[in-house]
Amino acid sequence: MDVPAGRSPHGGAGPGGRPGAWWRRAVVYQIYPRSFADSDGDGIGDLGGILGRIDHLVDLGVDAVWLSPICRSPQVDNGYDVSDYRSIDPLFGTIEQFDELVDRLHERGLRLIVDIVANHTSDQHPWFVDSRSSPDAERRSWYHWRPPRPGTVGGQPGAEPNDWVATFGGPAWTFDEGVGAYYLHSFAPSQPDLNWEEPAVRAAVSDMLRWWADRGVDGFRFDVINLISKPAGFVDGHSLPGSGSVISAFANGPRLHDFLGEMHREVGFEERGLVTIGEMPDLTTEVAARVSDPNRRELSMAFGFEHVEVGHLDGGTKWEASEVDLGEVKRSLARWQSALADVGWNSLYLGNHDQPRSLSHFGDDGWFRAESAKTLATLLLCHRGTPFVYQGDEIGMTNTALRLDEYVDVESVSYRDLALADGLPIDEVEQALAARSRDQARTPMQWDGSATAGFTTGRPWLPINPNAGSVNVELADADPDSVLAHYRRLIRLRRDEPALLDGRFELLLPDHPSIWAFARHSPGATVLVVANVTSTPVGLSGRGLPPLADGEVLLGTHRDRSWPALRPWESLVLRFRAW
Ligand code: GLC
Repeated sequence: MDVPAGRSPHGGAGPGGRPGAWWRRAVVYQIYPRSFADSDGDGIGDLGGILGRIDHLVDLGVDAVWLSPICRSPQVDNGYDVSDYRSIDPLFGTIEQFDELVDRLHERGLRLIVDIVANHTSDQHPWFVDSRSSPDAERRSWYHWRPPRPGTVGGQPGAEPNDWVATFGGPAWTFDEGVGAYYLHSFAPSQPDLNWEEPAVRAAVSDMLRWWADRGVDGFRFDVINLISKPAGFVDGHSLPGSGSVISAFANGPRLHDFLGEMHREVGFEERGLVTIGEMPDLTTEVAARVSDPNRRELSMAFGFEHVEVGHLDGGTKWEASEVDLGEVKRSLARWQSALADVGWNSLYLGNHDQPRSLSHFGDDGWFRAESAKTLATLLLCHRGTPFVYQGDEIGMTNTALRLDEYVDVESVSYRDLALADGLPIDEVEQALAARSRDQARTPMQWDGSATAGFTTGRPWLPINPNAGSVNVELADADPDSVLAHYRRLIRLRRDEPALLDGRFELLLPDHPSIWAFARHSPGATVLVVANVTSTPVGLSGRGLPPLADGEVLLGTHRDRSWPALRPWESLVLRFRAW
Protein backbone atom coordinates (compact mmCIF):
# COMPACT_ATOMS: atom_id res chain seq x y z
CA MET A 1 0.00 0.00 0.00
CA ASP A 2 1.22 3.49 -0.81
CA VAL A 3 1.86 5.73 2.13
CA PRO A 4 2.35 9.42 1.40
CA ALA A 5 5.89 10.67 1.75
CA GLY A 6 6.56 12.25 5.12
CA ARG A 7 3.68 10.38 6.72
CA SER A 8 3.61 10.76 10.48
CA PRO A 9 4.47 7.64 12.45
CA HIS A 10 0.96 7.21 13.85
CA GLY A 11 -0.43 6.35 10.43
CA GLY A 12 0.25 2.62 10.93
CA ALA A 13 -0.89 1.41 7.55
CA GLY A 14 -2.32 -2.05 7.21
CA PRO A 15 -4.18 -3.71 4.40
CA GLY A 16 -7.14 -1.47 3.52
CA GLY A 17 -10.21 -2.17 5.58
CA ARG A 18 -8.59 -4.45 8.16
CA PRO A 19 -7.61 -3.51 11.68
CA GLY A 20 -4.51 -1.42 11.25
CA ALA A 21 -5.79 0.39 8.16
CA TRP A 22 -4.64 4.00 8.41
CA TRP A 23 -8.12 5.45 8.46
CA ARG A 24 -9.14 3.48 11.55
CA ARG A 25 -6.73 5.65 13.53
CA ALA A 26 -7.34 8.88 11.66
CA VAL A 27 -9.23 12.07 12.47
CA VAL A 28 -10.61 13.68 9.30
CA TYR A 29 -11.23 17.41 8.85
CA GLN A 30 -13.92 18.46 6.39
CA ILE A 31 -13.28 21.55 4.29
CA TYR A 32 -16.17 23.20 2.48
CA PRO A 33 -13.91 25.01 0.00
CA ARG A 34 -16.33 27.81 -0.83
CA SER A 35 -16.33 28.91 2.84
CA PHE A 36 -12.83 28.10 4.05
CA ALA A 37 -10.38 30.72 2.75
CA ASP A 38 -10.39 32.98 -0.30
CA SER A 39 -7.04 33.79 -1.94
CA ASP A 40 -8.16 35.90 -4.91
CA GLY A 41 -10.60 38.35 -3.36
CA ASP A 42 -13.73 37.20 -5.23
CA GLY A 43 -15.45 36.42 -1.92
CA ILE A 44 -15.47 32.65 -2.53
CA GLY A 45 -13.02 30.27 -0.89
CA ASP A 46 -10.59 28.43 -3.17
CA LEU A 47 -7.64 26.04 -3.39
CA GLY A 48 -5.15 28.90 -2.97
CA GLY A 49 -6.89 29.70 0.32
CA ILE A 50 -6.54 26.12 1.51
CA LEU A 51 -2.85 26.05 0.48
CA GLY A 52 -2.33 29.09 2.69
CA ARG A 53 -3.93 27.47 5.74
CA ILE A 54 -2.24 24.08 5.94
CA ASP A 55 -0.48 25.07 9.17
CA HIS A 56 -3.89 25.32 10.86
CA LEU A 57 -4.61 21.67 9.98
CA VAL A 58 -1.19 20.49 11.09
CA ASP A 59 -1.48 22.36 14.40
CA LEU A 60 -4.90 20.86 14.95
CA GLY A 61 -3.37 17.40 14.56
CA VAL A 62 -5.79 15.90 12.05
CA ASP A 63 -4.64 13.13 9.73
CA ALA A 64 -6.70 13.72 6.62
CA VAL A 65 -8.75 16.35 4.86
CA TRP A 66 -12.02 15.76 3.03
CA LEU A 67 -12.73 18.43 0.42
CA SER A 68 -16.33 19.03 -0.60
CA PRO A 69 -16.65 19.07 -4.43
CA ILE A 70 -14.29 21.22 -6.46
CA CYS A 71 -15.03 19.89 -9.95
CA ARG A 72 -16.41 22.09 -12.70
CA SER A 73 -20.04 22.81 -11.95
CA PRO A 74 -22.75 25.39 -12.59
CA GLN A 75 -22.85 25.60 -8.76
CA VAL A 76 -26.63 25.26 -8.42
CA ASP A 77 -25.92 23.01 -5.42
CA ASN A 78 -22.46 24.46 -4.70
CA GLY A 79 -20.60 21.82 -6.64
CA TYR A 80 -22.81 18.82 -5.85
CA ASP A 81 -23.89 19.19 -9.49
CA VAL A 82 -20.84 18.24 -11.53
CA SER A 83 -20.49 19.13 -15.20
CA ASP A 84 -16.96 17.75 -15.65
CA TYR A 85 -15.51 15.12 -13.31
CA ARG A 86 -11.94 15.64 -14.50
CA SER A 87 -11.41 19.32 -13.92
CA ILE A 88 -11.34 21.95 -11.22
CA ASP A 89 -14.00 24.66 -11.30
CA PRO A 90 -12.28 27.98 -12.12
CA LEU A 91 -13.99 29.41 -9.02
CA PHE A 92 -11.72 27.19 -6.94
CA GLY A 93 -8.53 27.30 -9.02
CA THR A 94 -6.65 25.02 -11.37
CA ILE A 95 -5.64 21.39 -11.62
CA GLU A 96 -2.03 22.48 -11.03
CA GLN A 97 -3.09 23.98 -7.70
CA PHE A 98 -4.90 20.75 -6.89
CA ASP A 99 -1.76 18.71 -7.59
CA GLU A 100 0.20 21.14 -5.46
CA LEU A 101 -2.29 20.71 -2.65
CA VAL A 102 -1.90 16.92 -2.77
CA ASP A 103 1.88 17.33 -2.56
CA ARG A 104 1.85 19.97 0.18
CA LEU A 105 -0.54 17.93 2.32
CA HIS A 106 1.45 14.75 1.85
CA GLU A 107 4.66 16.56 2.77
CA ARG A 108 3.03 17.58 6.03
CA GLY A 109 1.78 14.06 6.79
CA LEU A 110 -1.83 14.71 5.81
CA ARG A 111 -3.97 12.71 3.42
CA LEU A 112 -6.57 14.04 1.00
CA ILE A 113 -10.07 12.69 0.38
CA VAL A 114 -12.14 14.06 -2.51
CA ASP A 115 -15.92 14.18 -2.77
CA ILE A 116 -17.45 12.23 -5.65
CA VAL A 117 -21.02 12.96 -6.71
CA ALA A 118 -22.03 10.06 -8.92
CA ASN A 119 -25.67 9.39 -8.11
CA HIS A 120 -26.42 12.32 -10.39
CA THR A 121 -24.67 14.85 -12.60
CA SER A 122 -25.45 18.43 -13.49
CA ASP A 123 -27.86 18.89 -16.40
CA GLN A 124 -24.92 20.72 -18.02
CA HIS A 125 -22.77 17.58 -18.02
CA PRO A 126 -22.00 16.43 -21.60
CA TRP A 127 -23.47 13.01 -20.73
CA PHE A 128 -26.86 14.56 -20.00
CA VAL A 129 -26.60 17.02 -22.87
CA ASP A 130 -26.10 14.02 -25.14
CA SER A 131 -28.80 11.97 -23.39
CA ARG A 132 -31.47 14.58 -24.06
CA SER A 133 -30.25 15.44 -27.57
CA SER A 134 -32.27 12.87 -29.53
CA PRO A 135 -34.25 9.66 -28.96
CA ASP A 136 -31.38 7.54 -30.23
CA ALA A 137 -28.59 9.45 -28.53
CA GLU A 138 -25.69 7.24 -27.47
CA ARG A 139 -26.24 8.09 -23.81
CA ARG A 140 -30.04 8.13 -23.75
CA SER A 141 -30.01 5.13 -21.36
CA TRP A 142 -27.51 6.81 -19.00
CA TYR A 143 -30.37 8.63 -17.24
CA HIS A 144 -33.90 7.63 -16.21
CA TRP A 145 -36.39 8.75 -18.87
CA ARG A 146 -40.10 7.92 -18.57
CA PRO A 147 -43.18 8.90 -20.61
CA PRO A 148 -46.00 10.96 -19.05
CA ARG A 149 -48.67 9.04 -17.16
CA PRO A 150 -51.07 7.35 -19.60
CA GLY A 151 -53.90 9.69 -20.60
CA THR A 152 -52.05 12.91 -19.63
CA VAL A 153 -50.13 15.58 -21.47
CA GLY A 154 -46.44 15.88 -20.58
CA GLY A 155 -45.55 19.04 -18.69
CA GLN A 156 -49.08 19.51 -17.28
CA PRO A 157 -49.59 19.20 -13.51
CA GLY A 158 -50.15 15.58 -12.54
CA ALA A 159 -48.64 14.14 -15.72
CA GLU A 160 -45.45 12.99 -13.96
CA PRO A 161 -44.77 9.25 -14.36
CA ASN A 162 -45.38 8.73 -10.64
CA ASP A 163 -45.86 10.65 -7.36
CA TRP A 164 -42.24 10.77 -6.18
CA VAL A 165 -41.17 13.95 -4.42
CA ALA A 166 -37.64 15.41 -4.83
CA THR A 167 -35.48 15.95 -1.77
CA PHE A 168 -35.41 19.70 -2.38
CA GLY A 169 -39.22 19.82 -2.81
CA GLY A 170 -41.53 19.49 -5.82
CA PRO A 171 -41.88 16.47 -8.11
CA ALA A 172 -38.85 14.22 -8.69
CA TRP A 173 -39.57 14.39 -12.44
CA THR A 174 -39.01 17.20 -14.93
CA PHE A 175 -40.46 17.21 -18.43
CA ASP A 176 -38.11 17.76 -21.35
CA GLU A 177 -40.00 19.25 -24.29
CA GLY A 178 -37.44 18.13 -26.86
CA VAL A 179 -37.44 14.53 -25.67
CA GLY A 180 -41.15 14.46 -24.90
CA ALA A 181 -40.41 12.55 -21.70
CA TYR A 182 -39.62 13.09 -18.03
CA TYR A 183 -36.22 12.58 -16.40
CA LEU A 184 -35.73 11.61 -12.78
CA HIS A 185 -33.93 13.77 -10.23
CA SER A 186 -33.65 12.93 -6.53
CA PHE A 187 -32.57 16.52 -5.81
CA ALA A 188 -32.95 19.72 -7.89
CA PRO A 189 -34.25 19.56 -11.49
CA SER A 190 -30.73 20.48 -12.62
CA GLN A 191 -29.33 17.30 -10.98
CA PRO A 192 -30.56 14.37 -13.14
CA ASP A 193 -29.98 10.90 -11.62
CA LEU A 194 -27.61 8.61 -13.50
CA ASN A 195 -28.90 5.17 -14.45
CA TRP A 196 -26.49 2.78 -12.74
CA GLU A 197 -28.22 -0.21 -14.35
CA GLU A 198 -26.41 0.85 -17.52
CA PRO A 199 -22.98 -0.87 -17.43
CA ALA A 200 -21.38 1.99 -19.41
CA VAL A 201 -22.30 4.41 -16.61
CA ARG A 202 -20.60 2.24 -14.02
CA ALA A 203 -17.54 1.83 -16.23
CA ALA A 204 -17.32 5.61 -16.74
CA VAL A 205 -17.53 6.24 -12.98
CA SER A 206 -14.81 3.69 -12.19
CA ASP A 207 -12.61 5.14 -14.90
CA MET A 208 -13.02 8.60 -13.42
CA LEU A 209 -12.18 7.28 -9.93
CA ARG A 210 -8.97 5.71 -11.22
CA TRP A 211 -8.06 9.08 -12.73
CA TRP A 212 -8.33 10.74 -9.31
CA ALA A 213 -6.51 7.90 -7.57
CA ASP A 214 -3.70 8.22 -10.11
CA ARG A 215 -3.44 11.92 -9.20
CA GLY A 216 -2.50 10.81 -5.70
CA VAL A 217 -5.67 11.25 -3.66
CA ASP A 218 -6.02 9.01 -0.63
CA GLY A 219 -9.72 8.33 -0.75
CA PHE A 220 -13.24 9.20 -1.73
CA ARG A 221 -16.34 10.44 0.03
CA PHE A 222 -19.26 9.24 -2.09
CA ASP A 223 -22.27 11.52 -2.13
CA VAL A 224 -25.67 9.82 -1.46
CA ILE A 225 -24.17 6.61 -2.78
CA ASN A 226 -26.92 4.35 -1.43
CA LEU A 227 -29.43 5.95 -3.83
CA ILE A 228 -27.76 4.52 -6.95
CA SER A 229 -29.80 1.33 -7.20
CA LYS A 230 -33.41 2.29 -7.97
CA PRO A 231 -36.26 -0.10 -7.19
CA ALA A 232 -37.78 -1.91 -10.16
CA GLY A 233 -41.11 -0.75 -11.49
CA PHE A 234 -41.06 2.95 -10.61
CA VAL A 235 -44.55 2.75 -9.11
CA ASP A 236 -46.45 5.31 -7.05
CA GLY A 237 -46.32 5.44 -3.30
CA HIS A 238 -42.64 5.08 -2.61
CA SER A 239 -42.17 8.47 -0.98
CA LEU A 240 -42.61 6.90 2.41
CA PRO A 241 -42.77 8.63 5.77
CA GLY A 242 -39.34 9.34 7.18
CA SER A 243 -37.62 11.65 4.79
CA GLY A 244 -40.82 12.72 3.06
CA SER A 245 -38.97 12.46 -0.25
CA VAL A 246 -37.91 9.99 -2.85
CA ILE A 247 -34.92 9.07 -0.69
CA SER A 248 -37.00 6.49 1.15
CA ALA A 249 -37.84 4.90 -2.20
CA PHE A 250 -34.26 4.62 -3.37
CA ALA A 251 -32.14 4.13 -0.28
CA ASN A 252 -30.34 0.80 -0.04
CA GLY A 253 -31.84 -0.47 -3.30
CA PRO A 254 -31.64 -4.05 -4.62
CA ARG A 255 -28.29 -3.86 -6.46
CA LEU A 256 -26.46 -1.50 -4.09
CA HIS A 257 -24.01 -4.12 -2.85
CA ASP A 258 -23.30 -5.42 -6.37
CA PHE A 259 -22.54 -1.92 -7.59
CA LEU A 260 -20.28 -1.10 -4.64
CA GLY A 261 -18.44 -4.41 -4.92
CA GLU A 262 -17.88 -3.89 -8.63
CA MET A 263 -16.55 -0.36 -8.08
CA HIS A 264 -14.20 -1.65 -5.38
CA ARG A 265 -12.83 -4.28 -7.75
CA GLU A 266 -12.62 -1.99 -10.76
CA VAL A 267 -10.77 0.81 -8.95
CA GLY A 268 -8.83 -1.35 -6.50
CA PHE A 269 -9.74 0.52 -3.32
CA GLU A 270 -8.03 -1.94 -1.02
CA GLU A 271 -4.96 -2.50 -3.19
CA ARG A 272 -4.43 1.24 -3.45
CA GLY A 273 -4.97 1.84 0.30
CA LEU A 274 -7.86 4.23 -0.39
CA VAL A 275 -10.41 5.12 2.23
CA THR A 276 -14.00 5.14 0.97
CA ILE A 277 -16.85 6.74 2.87
CA GLY A 278 -20.38 6.42 1.58
CA GLU A 279 -22.92 9.06 2.50
CA MET A 280 -26.13 7.07 3.01
CA PRO A 281 -29.47 8.61 3.95
CA ASP A 282 -31.93 6.16 5.56
CA LEU A 283 -28.99 3.93 6.49
CA THR A 284 -29.67 1.06 8.87
CA THR A 285 -27.11 -0.59 11.13
CA GLU A 286 -27.49 -3.79 9.08
CA VAL A 287 -26.60 -2.08 5.81
CA ALA A 288 -23.78 -0.14 7.49
CA ALA A 289 -22.27 -3.36 8.86
CA ARG A 290 -22.56 -5.00 5.46
CA VAL A 291 -20.98 -2.20 3.39
CA SER A 292 -18.12 -1.71 5.86
CA ASP A 293 -17.38 -5.41 6.44
CA PRO A 294 -13.80 -5.64 5.11
CA ASN A 295 -14.38 -9.15 3.85
CA ARG A 296 -17.12 -7.95 1.50
CA ARG A 297 -14.79 -5.37 -0.10
CA GLU A 298 -17.31 -2.58 -0.61
CA LEU A 299 -16.54 0.60 1.40
CA SER A 300 -14.51 1.53 4.46
CA MET A 301 -17.45 3.10 6.29
CA ALA A 302 -20.71 5.00 5.81
CA PHE A 303 -22.28 8.21 7.06
CA GLY A 304 -25.69 7.53 8.59
CA PHE A 305 -28.23 10.13 9.61
CA GLU A 306 -30.10 8.66 12.58
CA HIS A 307 -28.45 10.81 15.25
CA VAL A 308 -28.79 14.08 13.32
CA GLU A 309 -32.44 13.31 12.61
CA VAL A 310 -33.46 12.87 16.25
CA GLY A 311 -36.46 15.16 16.66
CA HIS A 312 -37.73 14.71 13.12
CA LEU A 313 -41.42 13.99 13.24
CA ASP A 314 -42.76 10.80 11.72
CA GLY A 315 -43.55 11.47 8.09
CA GLY A 316 -42.35 15.07 8.41
CA THR A 317 -39.48 16.87 6.80
CA LYS A 318 -36.50 18.36 8.60
CA TRP A 319 -38.23 21.74 8.61
CA GLU A 320 -40.95 20.59 11.04
CA ALA A 321 -38.61 18.99 13.57
CA SER A 322 -38.97 19.41 17.32
CA GLU A 323 -36.33 20.03 20.01
CA VAL A 324 -33.40 17.64 20.10
CA ASP A 325 -33.43 15.10 22.95
CA LEU A 326 -29.75 14.41 23.69
CA GLY A 327 -30.70 11.25 25.57
CA GLU A 328 -32.02 9.86 22.30
CA VAL A 329 -28.90 11.00 20.48
CA LYS A 330 -26.63 9.20 22.93
CA ARG A 331 -28.68 6.00 22.76
CA SER A 332 -28.68 6.18 18.97
CA LEU A 333 -24.87 6.47 18.83
CA ALA A 334 -24.57 3.65 21.37
CA ARG A 335 -26.77 1.38 19.28
CA TRP A 336 -24.50 1.99 16.27
CA GLN A 337 -21.43 1.33 18.43
CA SER A 338 -22.79 -2.10 19.44
CA ALA A 339 -24.09 -2.98 15.99
CA LEU A 340 -20.67 -2.41 14.41
CA ALA A 341 -18.56 -3.66 17.31
CA ASP A 342 -17.49 -6.90 15.66
CA VAL A 343 -18.06 -6.40 11.95
CA GLY A 344 -17.69 -3.11 10.09
CA TRP A 345 -16.63 0.32 11.17
CA ASN A 346 -18.43 3.51 12.23
CA SER A 347 -17.96 7.02 10.97
CA LEU A 348 -18.50 9.69 13.62
CA TYR A 349 -19.79 13.18 12.96
CA LEU A 350 -22.04 15.79 14.52
CA GLY A 351 -22.08 18.35 11.74
CA ASN A 352 -21.17 19.00 8.15
CA HIS A 353 -22.17 21.31 5.29
CA ASP A 354 -25.72 19.86 5.23
CA GLN A 355 -26.57 20.29 8.91
CA PRO A 356 -26.95 23.37 11.06
CA ARG A 357 -23.90 24.10 13.25
CA SER A 358 -23.58 21.15 15.63
CA LEU A 359 -22.92 23.44 18.57
CA SER A 360 -26.21 25.29 18.02
CA HIS A 361 -28.09 22.07 17.30
CA PHE A 362 -26.86 19.88 20.15
CA GLY A 363 -25.23 22.33 22.56
CA ASP A 364 -25.74 25.71 24.20
CA ASP A 365 -24.49 28.37 21.80
CA GLY A 366 -25.16 31.19 24.29
CA TRP A 367 -23.69 31.35 27.76
CA PHE A 368 -21.99 27.94 27.61
CA ARG A 369 -20.73 28.14 24.02
CA ALA A 370 -17.15 27.17 24.78
CA GLU A 371 -18.00 24.51 27.37
CA SER A 372 -20.58 22.82 25.19
CA ALA A 373 -18.31 22.96 22.12
CA LYS A 374 -15.57 21.22 24.11
CA THR A 375 -17.91 18.63 25.54
CA LEU A 376 -19.53 17.77 22.22
CA ALA A 377 -16.07 17.34 20.71
CA THR A 378 -15.00 15.11 23.59
CA LEU A 379 -18.06 12.91 23.26
CA LEU A 380 -17.65 12.58 19.51
CA LEU A 381 -13.94 11.85 19.43
CA CYS A 382 -14.06 9.32 22.25
CA HIS A 383 -16.53 7.02 20.50
CA ARG A 384 -15.14 4.14 18.42
CA GLY A 385 -14.87 4.93 14.72
CA THR A 386 -13.35 7.53 12.44
CA PRO A 387 -14.26 11.06 13.58
CA PHE A 388 -14.97 13.85 11.11
CA VAL A 389 -14.52 17.43 12.33
CA TYR A 390 -16.35 20.03 10.25
CA GLN A 391 -14.46 23.27 9.59
CA GLY A 392 -15.17 25.91 12.22
CA ASP A 393 -16.35 23.44 14.85
CA GLU A 394 -12.80 23.48 16.23
CA ILE A 395 -13.30 27.12 17.26
CA GLY A 396 -16.93 26.70 18.33
CA MET A 397 -18.65 28.43 15.40
CA THR A 398 -22.42 28.81 15.78
CA ASN A 399 -25.51 29.34 13.66
CA THR A 400 -25.94 32.89 12.48
CA ALA A 401 -28.87 35.24 11.90
CA LEU A 402 -29.84 35.64 8.25
CA ARG A 403 -32.75 37.59 6.83
CA LEU A 404 -35.21 35.56 4.76
CA ASP A 405 -33.81 37.04 1.57
CA GLU A 406 -30.21 36.25 2.51
CA TYR A 407 -30.53 32.46 2.22
CA VAL A 408 -28.88 31.15 -0.93
CA ASP A 409 -28.78 27.37 -0.50
CA VAL A 410 -30.88 25.63 -3.18
CA GLU A 411 -32.69 23.51 -0.56
CA SER A 412 -33.41 26.46 1.75
CA VAL A 413 -34.59 28.71 -1.06
CA SER A 414 -36.87 25.99 -2.42
CA TYR A 415 -38.33 25.39 1.05
CA ARG A 416 -38.79 29.12 1.69
CA ASP A 417 -40.56 29.76 -1.61
CA LEU A 418 -42.81 26.68 -1.45
CA ALA A 419 -43.69 27.28 2.22
CA LEU A 420 -44.57 30.94 1.66
CA ALA A 421 -46.59 30.05 -1.44
CA ASP A 422 -48.46 27.49 0.68
CA GLY A 423 -49.36 30.27 3.13
CA LEU A 424 -47.11 29.25 6.04
CA PRO A 425 -46.68 32.29 8.35
CA ILE A 426 -43.41 34.16 7.75
CA ASP A 427 -42.23 33.76 11.34
CA GLU A 428 -42.58 29.97 11.11
CA VAL A 429 -40.54 29.91 7.90
CA GLU A 430 -37.93 32.15 9.54
CA GLN A 431 -37.71 29.90 12.58
CA ALA A 432 -37.38 26.74 10.51
CA LEU A 433 -34.58 28.22 8.43
CA ALA A 434 -32.83 29.67 11.48
CA ALA A 435 -32.75 26.22 13.08
CA ARG A 436 -32.19 23.98 10.05
CA SER A 437 -30.89 25.74 6.97
CA ARG A 438 -27.67 24.40 5.49
CA ASP A 439 -26.50 28.00 5.12
CA GLN A 440 -26.05 28.05 8.91
CA ALA A 441 -22.98 25.85 8.57
CA ARG A 442 -21.72 27.52 5.42
CA THR A 443 -20.93 31.03 6.65
CA PRO A 444 -17.25 31.81 6.09
CA MET A 445 -14.58 30.42 8.36
CA GLN A 446 -13.63 32.95 11.04
CA TRP A 447 -9.87 33.40 10.95
CA ASP A 448 -9.65 36.75 12.75
CA GLY A 449 -11.74 39.59 14.14
CA SER A 450 -11.60 41.86 11.07
CA ALA A 451 -14.71 42.86 9.12
CA THR A 452 -14.37 39.94 6.70
CA ALA A 453 -12.98 37.60 9.36
CA GLY A 454 -9.72 37.11 7.46
CA PHE A 455 -11.69 34.96 5.01
CA THR A 456 -11.49 37.29 2.01
CA THR A 457 -10.37 40.74 0.98
CA GLY A 458 -13.56 41.04 -1.07
CA ARG A 459 -17.25 40.70 -0.32
CA PRO A 460 -17.99 37.26 1.19
CA TRP A 461 -20.54 35.16 -0.73
CA LEU A 462 -22.49 34.59 2.50
CA PRO A 463 -22.49 37.07 5.40
CA ILE A 464 -19.86 36.62 8.11
CA ASN A 465 -21.36 35.54 11.44
CA PRO A 466 -21.51 38.69 13.63
CA ASN A 467 -19.74 36.82 16.45
CA ALA A 468 -16.50 36.65 14.42
CA GLY A 469 -15.02 39.42 16.58
CA SER A 470 -14.90 37.07 19.56
CA VAL A 471 -15.00 33.63 17.91
CA ASN A 472 -12.02 33.30 15.58
CA VAL A 473 -8.85 31.28 15.05
CA GLU A 474 -6.49 34.12 15.94
CA LEU A 475 -7.97 34.63 19.41
CA ALA A 476 -8.40 30.91 20.02
CA ASP A 477 -4.80 30.23 19.09
CA ALA A 478 -3.57 32.64 21.75
CA ASP A 479 -5.78 31.22 24.53
CA PRO A 480 -4.71 27.97 26.22
CA ASP A 481 -8.30 27.43 27.44
CA SER A 482 -9.96 27.92 24.06
CA VAL A 483 -12.13 25.44 22.23
CA LEU A 484 -9.30 25.14 19.70
CA ALA A 485 -6.76 24.27 22.40
CA HIS A 486 -9.16 21.63 23.70
CA TYR A 487 -9.54 20.10 20.23
CA ARG A 488 -5.76 19.93 19.85
CA ARG A 489 -5.37 18.17 23.21
CA LEU A 490 -8.26 15.84 22.47
CA ILE A 491 -6.95 14.78 19.05
CA ARG A 492 -3.52 14.09 20.55
CA LEU A 493 -5.06 12.14 23.41
CA ARG A 494 -7.09 9.99 21.04
CA ARG A 495 -4.05 9.21 18.96
CA ASP A 496 -1.98 8.16 21.97
CA GLU A 497 -4.60 6.20 23.92
CA PRO A 498 -5.22 2.67 22.60
CA ALA A 499 -8.51 2.35 24.51
CA LEU A 500 -9.88 5.34 22.59
CA LEU A 501 -8.79 3.97 19.25
CA ASP A 502 -10.02 0.44 19.49
CA GLY A 503 -11.40 -0.21 22.97
CA ARG A 504 -14.80 -1.86 23.40
CA PHE A 505 -17.59 0.66 23.91
CA GLU A 506 -20.00 0.45 26.86
CA LEU A 507 -22.78 3.00 27.44
CA LEU A 508 -23.26 3.86 31.13
CA LEU A 509 -26.39 5.38 32.72
CA PRO A 510 -28.33 4.98 29.45
CA ASP A 511 -31.49 6.61 30.78
CA HIS A 512 -29.96 9.47 32.71
CA PRO A 513 -31.45 12.70 31.38
CA SER A 514 -28.42 14.94 31.98
CA ILE A 515 -25.34 12.71 32.03
CA TRP A 516 -23.78 11.21 28.93
CA ALA A 517 -21.26 8.64 30.11
CA PHE A 518 -19.51 5.70 28.52
CA ALA A 519 -16.46 3.51 28.95
CA ARG A 520 -13.90 2.31 26.42
CA HIS A 521 -12.29 -0.94 27.52
CA SER A 522 -8.92 -2.12 26.29
CA PRO A 523 -6.84 -4.96 27.77
CA GLY A 524 -4.70 -2.64 29.91
CA ALA A 525 -7.02 0.23 30.75
CA THR A 526 -10.56 1.52 30.78
CA VAL A 527 -11.18 5.08 29.76
CA LEU A 528 -14.29 6.71 31.20
CA VAL A 529 -15.95 9.67 29.54
CA VAL A 530 -18.50 11.51 31.62
CA ALA A 531 -20.32 14.66 30.59
CA ASN A 532 -23.05 16.94 31.83
CA VAL A 533 -25.00 17.74 28.68
CA THR A 534 -27.21 20.41 30.20
CA SER A 535 -26.80 24.06 31.14
CA THR A 536 -27.40 23.38 34.84
CA PRO A 537 -25.12 21.61 37.36
CA VAL A 538 -25.71 17.93 38.03
CA GLY A 539 -24.64 15.79 41.01
CA LEU A 540 -22.70 12.60 40.39
CA SER A 541 -22.72 10.73 43.71
CA GLY A 542 -24.42 7.36 43.84
CA ARG A 543 -24.88 7.35 40.11
CA GLY A 544 -23.44 3.98 39.21
CA LEU A 545 -20.08 5.34 38.10
CA PRO A 546 -16.75 4.39 39.70
CA PRO A 547 -15.41 6.97 42.17
CA LEU A 548 -13.89 9.52 39.83
CA ALA A 549 -11.12 10.29 42.30
CA ASP A 550 -9.72 6.80 41.60
CA GLY A 551 -9.09 7.66 37.98
CA GLU A 552 -6.37 9.65 36.31
CA VAL A 553 -7.80 12.71 34.58
CA LEU A 554 -6.62 12.75 30.97
CA LEU A 555 -8.66 15.72 29.81
CA GLY A 556 -11.34 18.04 31.11
CA THR A 557 -13.32 21.03 29.96
CA HIS A 558 -12.43 22.96 33.13
CA ARG A 559 -9.07 23.49 34.85
CA ASP A 560 -10.28 22.63 38.35
CA ARG A 561 -12.64 19.94 39.66
CA SER A 562 -16.03 20.30 41.29
CA TRP A 563 -16.65 16.67 42.32
CA PRO A 564 -19.04 15.20 43.17
CA ALA A 565 -20.88 17.44 40.72
CA LEU A 566 -20.38 18.48 37.15
CA ARG A 567 -20.86 22.11 36.17
CA PRO A 568 -22.96 23.03 33.11
CA TRP A 569 -21.52 21.23 30.06
CA GLU A 570 -18.51 20.02 32.06
CA SER A 571 -16.92 16.79 30.87
CA LEU A 572 -13.99 14.64 31.87
CA VAL A 573 -11.97 11.84 30.36
CA LEU A 574 -10.37 9.57 32.98
CA ARG A 575 -8.25 6.47 32.82
CA PHE A 576 -8.70 3.55 35.22
CA ARG A 577 -7.01 0.23 35.42
CA ALA A 578 -9.09 -2.09 33.22
CA TRP A 579 -12.40 -2.94 34.85
C1 GLC B 1 -25.48 15.20 -0.40
C2 GLC B 1 -24.61 16.42 -0.20
C3 GLC B 1 -25.49 17.64 -0.29
C4 GLC B 1 -26.11 17.69 -1.66
C5 GLC B 1 -26.86 16.40 -1.97
C6 GLC B 1 -27.15 16.30 -3.44
O1 GLC B 1 -26.38 15.02 0.61
O2 GLC B 1 -23.91 16.32 0.99
O3 GLC B 1 -24.79 18.82 -0.01
O4 GLC B 1 -27.01 18.76 -1.75
O5 GLC B 1 -26.10 15.26 -1.65
O6 GLC B 1 -25.96 16.11 -4.13
